[in-house]
Amino acid sequence: MSEINSDLTPKQIVAELDKYIIGQKDAKRNVAIALRNRWRRMNVKEEIQGEIVPNNILLIGSTGVGKTEIARRLAKIADAPFTKVEASKFTEVGYVGRDVESMVRDLVEQAVNMVKIAKKEEVKERAAEVVEGIILDALIPPLKGNKNTFGTKVGSDEPENEVELNEQTRERFREKIRNGELDDRKIEIDVTAAPSGNVGMIGGGMDEASMINIQEMIGNMMPKKKKKRKVTISEARKILLEEEAAKMIDMDEVKEEAIFKVENTGIIFIDEVDKIAKGDSSKGPDVSREGVQRDLLPIVEGSAVNTKYGIINTDHILFVAAGAFHFSKPSDLIPELQGRFPIRVELENLTKADFLRILTEPKNALTKQYTALVASEDVHLSFQEEALEEIAEMAFHINEEVENIGARRLHTVMSKLLNEILFDIPDTIGPNAQIVIDKALVQEKLNGLVQDKDLSRYIL
Ligand SMILES: Nc1ncnc2c1ncn2[C@@H]1O[C@H](COP(=O)(O)OP(=O)(O)OP(=O)(O)O)[C@@H](O)[C@H]1O
Ligand SMILES: [Mg+2]
Repeated sequence: MSEINSDLTPKQIVAELDKYIIGQKDAKRNVAIALRNRWRRMNVKEEIQGEIVPNNILLIGSTGVGKTEIARRLAKIADAPFTKVEASKFTEVGYVGRDVESMVRDLVEQAVNMVKIAKKEEVKERAAEVVEGIILDALIPPLKGNKNTFGTKVGSDEPENEVELNEQTRERFREKIRNGELDDRKIEIDVTAAPSGNVGMIGGGMDEASMINIQEMIGNMMPKKKKKRKVTISEARKILLEEEAAKMIDMDEVKEEAIFKVENTGIIFIDEVDKIAKGDSSKGPDVSREGVQRDLLPIVEGSAVNTKYGIINTDHILFVAAGAFHFSKPSDLIPELQGRFPIRVELENLTKADFLRILTEPKNALTKQYTALVASEDVHLSFQEEALEEIAEMAFHINEEVENIGARRLHTVMSKLLNEILFDIPDTIGPNAQIVIDKALVQEKLNGLVQDKDLSRYIL
């Protein structure tokens, strides 16, 4: 049975988050504690283990300050199944087909994929050997007959030699296959075609879980068709590796591990909770919003949810909710739900200085992304410090003047700034060009837009 992988200390978790998220110290510290607490829970005495409930977190902060980003990074660090839902989705008129429980099903689906990938990795080498055999057989079919040199093959004059010759040729080709010499050669392989046939019609009036169950059942009942396909050896390797690895893993084991992972380490991120609070009339009438809260309650409180992989107990799933709460307050949520999010963290609005750092420091910083993109065309892009300050300044200014969308503004500003350059490469800006973005260039490209409120509203 799998253990919780991440044994990072709270301090280490914050250090990891720091690689991507600027500022928001409070939020980082609290999610770090929540994560460490799950590891702690797995290591306490059995009798109290079940009693320790996760300290669900409510992140409060304006748009684009890093709420979702924190949750996403947290899931990566935790190596835990993670799913994100928008609470407001559940209130939309005419929104059918997905109930609140579907978020738990998504989470299990995630976990199953994670476990599958891990297990496939384990059998990778074994599968590769089998695949090599299949490819070899397709290229040089083995001679049927007794391979024993003392035996004789009926109807052949030189039985030993022929079989041996075949073996030798096969060994030579095995070598060639292995070092990729024949990768472009085409061979014919059998691939299992996914059973077709639309069974969606039977689903009328059924909930999602049972419908999926039935679909799977029918899928399993239908004989898996083998289809012949002509593909290159390198393609064949990919297809077959996938198939063979899948055959080698034990799905029951996968399910069991996935359920364990979900129940003990799963994280569900409920975005836009403010939109289902009373007082925020932007999304549907009060009754429907309160209805969604009531639907959420049992899941957050801990209940059993039926999924196609088995029943999931949600007692120890960590819920992180987030919202801007511009038009409502956390206290507008029904008390029971409020009580289930005991940790409230306010995220700070980002400053100009934060913007400057966000542009350059995170591992996925925009300047790094763009530099890497154009480098793929052998063009060297760099930004002068003053130019970056100007970009940060402009983004901040537009946020104040037009609408505050937080760090997202940097995305729009940068894309506008670099738009022409990205278009001109490689046609008019050739390989080995050096592009230096300086303050003057930033002003030239953006000043007109920044000064005209109407323009910036639409374009930036
Ligand atoms: N503190 C930050 N540090 C680094 N990057 C950030 C930060 N805040 C936001 N960003 C950048 O802005 C983008 C949007 O942030 P994010 O999705 O976290 O916003 P949010 O707070 O969830 O907003 P919303 O309420 O609109 O959902 C991120 O993809 C990230 O690139
Ligand atoms: Mg968000």
